[in-house]
Amino acid sequence: MERTFIAVKPEGVQRGLCGEVMTRFEKRGFQLVACKLVHASKTLLESHYEEHKGKGFFDGLVAHMSSSPVLAMVWEGASVISTARTMMGATDPKKSAPGTIRGDYGIDMGRNIIHGSDGTESATREINLWFTKEEQITWKPAL
Ligand code: CMP
Repeated sequence: MERTFIAVKPEGVQRGLCGEVMTRFEKRGFQLVACKLVHASKTLLESHYEEHKGKGFFDGLVAHMSSSPVLAMVWEGASVISTARTMMGATDPKKSAPGTIRGDYGIDMGRNIIHGSDGTESATREINLWFTKEEQITWKPAL
């Protein structure tokens, strides 16, 4: 079963959107397998966003993401990586469709509420960067 890394960014946590984001993933039928509130270090974020190193927005992105806690999660389910990206909407909230998380709540590129892995390789890398093996819980619903 596929897994993806999802983070509610500082502005999402501050605006009380953690429950809304989690509800959308639960109602879509995905299963939560790891979750914690993290005040992330710059070192962790520089590693997380390593593909953007050197870009004009990199330092601001790392500064913002380390400014206050994020809700880090791992969700599991069939095609969860691509479905989560659809649920999130476009990176730029101005281009995100209504009904998507960013389309409904995003402010601008830097404050777009949510991060989600963009492929299988990044999902594996990000999950193992943010969570230990012990924090990733494998469980089956009884229903
Ligand atoms: P995220 O999905 O977390 O992945 C990289 C982040 O960089 C992205 O969401 C945006 O928040 C941010 N980002 C991407 N492009 C820009 C940009 N041009 N200006 C500011 N922030 C950006």
